[in-house]
Amino acid sequence: MKLVGIIGGTGNIGEGLARRICQGGKYDVLIGSREAAKAEAAACRVTESLQTCTCELPGGPVGTCGCGTNANVCSADIIILSVPFDKVASTIESIGVACFEKKIVISLINPMLRYPKEKYFLPDRPVEGSAALAIQKMLPPSAKLITAFNNVASGKWELIDEVLDYSIVVCGDDKEAKATVMDLTRSISRLQPLDGGPLAMSGVVESITPLVITLALRNGLKDVGVYFR
Ligand SMILES: NC(=O)c1ccc[n+]([C@@H]2O[C@H](COP(=O)([O-])OP(=O)(O)OC[C@H]3O[C@@H](n4cnc5c(N)ncnc54)[C@H](OP(=O)(O)O)[C@@H]3O)[C@@H](O)[C@H]2O)c1
Repeated sequence: MKLVGIIGGTGNIGEGLARRICQGGKYDVLIGSREAAKAEAAACRVTESLQTCTCELPGGPVGTCGCGTNANVCSADIIILSVPFDKVASTIESIGVACFEKKIVISLINPMLRYPKEKYFLPDRPVEGSAALAIQKMLPPSAKLITAFNNVASGKWELIDEVLDYSIVVCGDDKEAKATVMDLTRSISRLQPLDGGPLAMSGVVESITPLVITLALRNGLKDVGVYFR
């Protein structure tokens, strides 16, 4: 089975994402953290929830959920960066940029300006035009950066008893890496991957999330998802 490592896998998104990927039964997951013990606690919760869930599981066994430091999980075939945007540079630096050589790296990161009292959120694009284009500069040239999963709220990843049937826009410049990430997407519940074009399009996709949160806040909706049909 292929292995997916999640850097910052202990967070709001990371743990639910780990659950969903394991649930699909096609990938094993390693949850990463700055603290190995924190990663272990999260991996135990994921394993326990998969054992007790009443949801429809794939025919075969589910994937396993292991853990380690952020550096440890970079041994995986696919690495997901799941930390706040302003922590990405220091995280990559502390892991060591060489760990990302030739890896498929997924960014689901959406930098945002938050105005919760006024009930609106705005994209907070770095000078490069998107988080992904900024992150690409932090990674070695041999890393294949792909954006995916940017527009799914953490609450939706968590609820593994519920079907997840959103569209997932996948952007990137490496055709093979993009196809690999689209396969990973297809392995999760009923997610539908859509080719969103090159990494240059990532700013558009990252900007959808502040819109979605604003719509949820102003219209009394919860965990709004995106469907392109
Ligand atoms: N939340 C959502 O609904 C949502 C939806 C779509 C996309 N996203 C994107 O997904 C990414 C993760 O979101 P999240 O809500 O899961 O974030 P989060 O829970 O705030 O943080 C994720 C993990 O980042 C690590 N972290 C926190 N502070 C750090 C620091 N100073 N240095 C290094 N690592 C640090 C922590 O892991 P350890 O303490 O274990 O190291 C934490 O568990 C964000 O970039 C966000 O834009 C979020």
